[in-house]
Amino acid sequence: MIGQSIDLRERTILALDFQTIGEVEQCLSQLEGQIRYVKVGMELFYAAGPEVIYSLKEQGLRIFLDMKTHDIPNTAKGAMKSLARLGVDMINVHAAGGKAMMAAAREGLEEGTPAGSPRPLLIGVTMLTSTSQTVMNRELGIPGTVEEAVLQYAVLTKEAGLDGVVASPLEVPMIKKVAGGSFLTVTPGIRPKGAEAGDQSRITTPKEAFDLGSDYIVIGRAVTAARDPLAVWQAVVGK
Ligand code: C5P
Repeated sequence: MIGQSIDLRERTILALDFQTIGEVEQCLSQLEGQIRYVKVGMELFYAAGPEVIYSLKEQGLRIFLDMKTHDIPNTAKGAMKSLARLGVDMINVHAAGGKAMMAAAREGLEEGTPAGSPRPLLIGVTMLTSTSQTVMNRELGIPGTVEEAVLQYAVLTKEAGLDGVVASPLEVPMIKKVAGGSFLTVTPGIRPKGAEAGDQSRITTPKEAFDLGSDYIVIGRAVTAARDPLAVWQAVVGK
């Protein structure tokens, strides 16, 4: 768990869910150099490719590459080996791929990380924050509560040798209890007070997320689609 005295800008990851580098640049310029950590997901990476990573790195930003890899172990390993060469800070795979896949992903990441560079943090996605219990039970055919499924995935992720999980902030206390305080929690599903939930289901405010023990929060549309993104950003992390 981190204290409020730590600079929240280092722990607040802005999701750059755009399709062009131009839109990314416009968003970052509106935020006047206050961003430290960004997330590049499938929407941006599939459209803009490795170039966008190089460009963000040149600006001194830390990068969470959110590709949510989920495949057979050999393919997941190869994917991580390729992505490790980009020099990002954090990367993820779906825990639902199983322990062997996650362990293979870690091996690939270690093999692909350039000598002398730190290995990117490897994080397992538990249950997407857009998934409600009804959807999980009726559509995915997974019985029990979302909390039970998330815990099972968190334990599996730890056993596979990963550094932490993506989960809802609501699940952080029980994850820390079972997996230990140093097992990282990265939490999307963040909505400042009064903001639209949109397609997210298991949500909290930024303050609630940090109070619950999140190591990193991920926030996207509440900032990027706001009329005044800088004002929302400053309300989240302070001035
Ligand atoms: O716009 P919003 O704040 O909902 O964005 C959340 C971001 O976090 C999106 O980029 C989404 O892909 C990502 N994410 C998520 N839930 C997960 C994993 C990642 O919402 N479990």
